[in-house]
Amino acid sequence: MKSGTEKIYQYAIQGGNALTGEVEIGGAKNAALAILAAAIMTDETVTIENMPDVRDTNVLLDAMAGIGVMIERPDRHTVKINGSMVRNVNIEHDLIRKIRASYYLIGALLGKYYEAEVPLPGGCNIGSRPIDQHLKGFRAIGANVRIEHGSIIAKAEKLTGAHIYMDVVSVGATINILMASCMAEGKTIIENAAKEPHVVDVANFLNSMGANIKGAGTDVIRIKGVSSLHGATYSVIPDQIEAGTFMFAAAVTGGDILIKNVIPKHLESISAKLMEIGCQVEEYDDSVRVRRNGKLSNTQIKTLPYPGFPTDMQPQAGVALSLSEGVSTITESIFENRFRYVDEIMKMGANIKVEGNTAIITGVEALSGAHITAPDLRAGAALVLAALAADGVSTIDDIRLIERGYEDFDMKIRQLGGIIEKVTDTKAVRKFRMRSRAV
Ligand code: UD1
Repeated sequence: MKSGTEKIYQYAIQGGNALTGEVEIGGAKNAALAILAAAIMTDETVTIENMPDVRDTNVLLDAMAGIGVMIERPDRHTVKINGSMVRNVNIEHDLIRKIRASYYLIGALLGKYYEAEVPLPGGCNIGSRPIDQHLKGFRAIGANVRIEHGSIIAKAEKLTGAHIYMDVVSVGATINILMASCMAEGKTIIENAAKEPHVVDVANFLNSMGANIKGAGTDVIRIKGVSSLHGATYSVIPDQIEAGTFMFAAAVTGGDILIKNVIPKHLESISAKLMEIGCQVEEYDDSVRVRRNGKLSNTQIKTLPYPGFPTDMQPQAGVALSLSEGVSTITESIFENRFRYVDEIMKMGANIKVEGNTAIITGVEALSGAHITAPDLRAGAALVLAALAADGVSTIDDIRLIERGYEDFDMKIRQLGGIIEKVTDTKAVRKFRMRSRAV
């Protein structure tokens, strides 16, 4: 469906039910985006399993089809990709500017064809999002990079391994340099690399295609260039942030959720904070159970690169701390514009003061339903949690942003006993309110 004709939905949510039961977590959106781009680096067919069916991955797949990549979807969560027919390296796609991960096509195309032209990335408005470290990496391995007419244009005669020291820890730049350098001549060393699970996943995927990458998951990654990559079948890791969001859903609603298909190790910083504020967290091989019986207590959180507390979980934590006893602080050290949910949750009765990159949160007894707007993907998901915990009905606008990264979010919440519906107009909201009153 063309975006112009697409229906605009809101969520209508009746708060107050504790979320209980089991939920299955999908593949990691941020790993999947990079893996999709990397899949075009071979002329052989690549099969990717556990692919989340979310807006961001679908937009990227559309853009890839637009440059001649052959894409098959044997089932909802499997994609077959063949990049042998890529017709041009100039991506012009009106949707591609909307997703951050479009920049992964630069690393992939540059690495394979020594040439790429991709519009500057969009994505969530969570602050200024420079790409200087990506460009520094491309230049270090021999590419000529310039920005013209809103696009990044990278070209190289040949690519040669280099020693690259990243000035900031960047997930995107680390992955992009991994892709661009895996077929470069000689050895590339990335120092101060990002250690996030999806960096490791992309490295594992590239290795399954024949790349020679060592050290992913530590801050020094070593890449030995190979002459070509081959086809592979690969399953994307579970989504750390989707899992974390449901962990916090149990916390804020006083629920009991078994979150299945996760890697508990990836959730350690989230589990630790939940335990600190009074939740019980039990880890199993590939699931975690989160429960909350008593009151939540206050804490301090600072977002940091992995293995620190993820910036993508900060708004969800902010909701929990709004309902905790005492005063908490959250310091956002990665993106400067990630407190845009604060104005919205204040409409629900939260007491938060933002000073610079710190939010000072004084816990309140309860939140109350309100008409609010999702400011970005994770903040939007966090506001859904707030609405599920609040007294009364809330409506949330701009849920398209939430659907960028959460598959069947409303359905999964309903399966856990939450009352949430996608509605299109005020009449539907009125009906929802009447039904909720009748329950
Ligand atoms: C990725 C995730 C995003 C997550 C973030 C941090 C995707 C599609 N998005 O974003 O959900 O919130 O990691 O875990 O995977 N920076 C620079 N120069 C650069 C690149 C980054 O200064 O060239 C800075 C950024 O402004 C930010 C920090 O480095 O302060 C981290 O950004 P980065 O890890 O690159 O985030 P993204 O890859 O954009």
